[in-house]
Amino acid sequence: MKKEITVNSSDTKSAREKDYSRYFVAPNLKEAKKRGKEDIQVVQFDGIDEELKNLGRGKTFLMRTYGCQANEHDSETISGILGRMGYTPTEEENEADIILFNTCAIRENAEDKVFGELGRLKHLKKEKPDLVLGVCGCMSQEEAVVNRILKSYPHVDLIFGTHNIHRLPVLLKDALYSKEMVVEVWSKEGDVVENMPKVRQNGLKAWVNIMYGCDKFCTYCIVPYTRGKERSRRPEDVIAEVRDLARQGYKEITLLGQNVNAYGKDFTDIEYGFGDLMDAIRQIDIPRVRFTTSHPRDFDDHLIEVLAKKGNLVEHIHLPVQSGNSEVLKKMARKYTREQYLELVRKIKEAIPDVVLTTDIIVGFPGETEEQFKDTLSLVEEVGFDSAYTFIYSPRHGTPAAVMEDDVSAAEKKDRLQRLMDVVNRLSREKNEALRGQVVEVLVEGESKNNPDVLAGRTRTNKLVHFTGPKEYIGTFIHVKIIEPQTWTLKGEVVTKVEV
Ligand code: 5AD
Ligand code: SF4
Repeated sequence: MKKEITVNSSDTKSAREKDYSRYFVAPNLKEAKKRGKEDIQVVQFDGIDEELKNLGRGKTFLMRTYGCQANEHDSETISGILGRMGYTPTEEENEADIILFNTCAIRENAEDKVFGELGRLKHLKKEKPDLVLGVCGCMSQEEAVVNRILKSYPHVDLIFGTHNIHRLPVLLKDALYSKEMVVEVWSKEGDVVENMPKVRQNGLKAWVNIMYGCDKFCTYCIVPYTRGKERSRRPEDVIAEVRDLARQGYKEITLLGQNVNAYGKDFTDIEYGFGDLMDAIRQIDIPRVRFTTSHPRDFDDHLIEVLAKKGNLVEHIHLPVQSGNSEVLKKMARKYTREQYLELVRKIKEAIPDVVLTTDIIVGFPGETEEQFKDTLSLVEEVGFDSAYTFIYSPRHGTPAAVMEDDVSAAEKKDRLQRLMDVVNRLSREKNEALRGQVVEVLVEGESKNNPDVLAGRTRTNKLVHFTGPKEYIGTFIHVKIIEPQTWTLKGEVVTKVEV
């Protein structure tokens, strides 16, 4: 059960209600689904109160991040805020004064992992009652999750939502002093908050949000509920951030949004879309620019035209298809057919002949027949993706697909996933094989994970390359000849250093 809220001396009914609402604002899926017409305000992060600035002096925090780049980037913001409060990061669970889980709700197994971790930490919290255990990110936006934590994980101290990150300083203070579970999750998105502090994890590659939320409501997906309605950042704010990253020496940026192709559609005062933004960023002196994720539905000709200008705009497009069958796509509410997707791919390939396409695919959507699944296999072959993220459909409470009739057995779904992965891996191997003997430009990111004598980097098309070379190459661009292509990596040898 929910913890009782203790209210101090002014324990009148109104004070209790006031304090209660301060400590306990829980999510509501119905509210989260609403899409209001009101304009989005852009507000500046109002900093951190003097009294909170030293709250974390001499103390440490540990962040565990699950899920997509949006979460990774949110964790950078959370780290930035905690840093401003005096906290320093640690990887040592036993040392940490705060342990925060930035969670993902996209599939059930992502959630199971977090519940497992929360359960595991029960004894640590018992040993260290002053430890603040927090949950944020997409899971905290789900009613069912918050209820489960309240009921079964009462040792959690703080739950805050994806729209409440800027409120962290106050919430943390409440969590520290109230000793009660502090829950603040706004179901409805708030404003676009600019100028939040950030501690970027990587000195070479940076994520830049261009928009928040999603209005697509694909029937299987929880994101429109956990991330709210589409809100674009103003172009001048995005451009200023990219310019600043370029000045700081970053080599690559990835523009982030759940559906970047909808960028700007919410502006009421200017006509400005994703193609326009890319055209502006193309002219900034930063060597590589990527974006993720695109929705095929909004991928327009202007954008293709701009991407074809190349330069710092890399020839890699992640274009989730989800299924190769038009009926399944309709049930998914993707709002395009197999033929329309293939036509888009044709146009992209015509404009950018060396483009590398990657995708996301779901198998075992409710009621998917063997024939429909085979359409996915044939589409994968027809497009010739270089790689794909493949998933078994996972029902998400509150989404339309979760109540659709499903007569496909779990074993059948697993089998389909395997068959799909076999095709995807074969294609990856073939695509990589075609690079044998070719010279590619690589941004050297560091030592290889498994062998410190080997360096690792990525091509413009985001393929991982391993090679031997001096450590001074880290952070620079070099030309590498591909000697031994494999399914997931390319082994090569250095040809020259590139000045970019
Ligand atoms: N089940 C399985 N996969 C899903 N995805 C989104 N929702 C679900 C779900 N309920 C996949 C989609 C999406 C990727 C980020 O995760 O393929 O593109
Ligand atoms: Fe989910 Fe569809 Fe939005 Fe992507 S476009 S986040 S799959 S609802």
